[in-house]
Amino acid sequence: MWRYASPVAIHWGDEWPELLRPLLPPGPGLLIHYPGFPAADAAVLPAGTAAYDRVEANPTPEQVQRAIDAALPLRPRWIVAVGGGSVLDTAKLVRLALACRCPSVEALLRAVPEPAGGGPLLIAAPTTHGTGAELTMWSTVWDVGGRRKLSLAHPANAPDIAAYCPPLTYGLPLPASLAATLDALAHALEALWNRGANPVSDEMAMAAVAGIAAGLERLDDPVPPPVRAGLLRASMFAGLAFAATRTAAAHSISYPLTLRLGIPHGIACAMTLPALWRVNAPRMAAKAERLRQRLDGEDPAAMLERLRRFAAARVPFTLSAYGARPQDIGELAQASFTKGRMDNNLVDLDEAAVRAILAEILG
Ligand SMILES: [Fe+2]
Repeated sequence: MWRYASPVAIHWGDEWPELLRPLLPPGPGLLIHYPGFPAADAAVLPAGTAAYDRVEANPTPEQVQRAIDAALPLRPRWIVAVGGGSVLDTAKLVRLALACRCPSVEALLRAVPEPAGGGPLLIAAPTTHGTGAELTMWSTVWDVGGRRKLSLAHPANAPDIAAYCPPLTYGLPLPASLAATLDALAHALEALWNRGANPVSDEMAMAAVAGIAAGLERLDDPVPPPVRAGLLRASMFAGLAFAATRTAAAHSISYPLTLRLGIPHGIACAMTLPALWRVNAPRMAAKAERLRQRLDGEDPAAMLERLRRFAAARVPFTLSAYGARPQDIGELAQASFTKGRMDNNLVDLDEAAVRAILAEILG
C-alpha cells in the first residue's frame, strides 16, 4: 500500500511579474529575500511591501527568531520568499510562527501547537536549482554551537505555492550552482534507495536524475538559460520525490561534515553518492535497470563517476580538502546517524560501513 500527496501548488513561468502578481492576495505582505535579490525584481511586489533580507546560510535558531520578530508586528496576509534553502526554510518557520501564534522558534522546534493551519499565504520562489525547500514541509535549523542539526517537520510548514521562474536562478555563481545541483541529485537518488519510495516518487526521482545527468556538466560560464531551466525542472522533480520519502544515508552522513568541517550542504551530500550507489543498487536491481534506461543506457555508477570528476575539478571534493584527518573518521561516522534519515536507507549501514565510506572520500 502507498499514497502520494503534495500540499504545494506548482506555478511555473519565465516572466517574474506575470508569474507572481496573480498569486498575491490583497492586504499587507512581506518579502523575505536573499541579499542580492535585484531591486527591479523586488519592485514587482506592491508598493509598501515590507522586506527582510537578513537570512544567513544555514540559519541558527537565533537568526530565525530575528526574522519572526521582524514579521510579527507587520501582520502580513502573505509572504513571498525568494532565495535558496536557507531563505525558504526561514520563511516557512516565520509563516508557521504566525499561523499558530507561537512567536518562539525554540518552542516551535520543541512542538508545533495546534491549530497550526491558516496564517499568511506563503509563496516560495527558489533562486537555486537544488534544495527543493519550496516543496517540503520541513525546515532545517543549524545549532552550530551545539553541533546539532535541528529539523522541524509539520504539514502546516509547507509553502502554499512553489513559484518557479528560471531567470531567478541566472545569477547564481558557479560553485553554488554546482552544490545546489548535487544536492538535488542526492535528493533524487535518496528517494530511489528509500524505504518509503513509491511508484510516483520513483518516477519523479528518475526524471530528476536524468535531467541532472544531462545538465550538470553544462554548468559553465555563462550558463545557457535552457540549462538553468532544465536543472530547475530536475530540482523540482527531485523535490517532489523526496518530499514524499525524505532523505536517507547520504544526507545523514552529510550533517556532521557540514557542521564540523563546513562543507557546503550539496557537496557534503554528493561526496558519498558513488559509494552509496554501490551499497544500495543490488537491493533495487529492477529500479537500477530502469534508471539505466532513462540514462540512455549509461550505467548509473559510470554517470556518478562522470559527475564526480566534473565537480572535483571545480570545487574541493575530498574530506581532507576541508581539513579532516584520518583520526577524525571515527567521530564523523559516530555523528552520522540521524534518526529519520539514516533509517530510511534501503540497506542498513552500521558505523563500520560509514567509516569505510568516509575513508574512501578522505582523499
Ligand atoms: Fe539536501
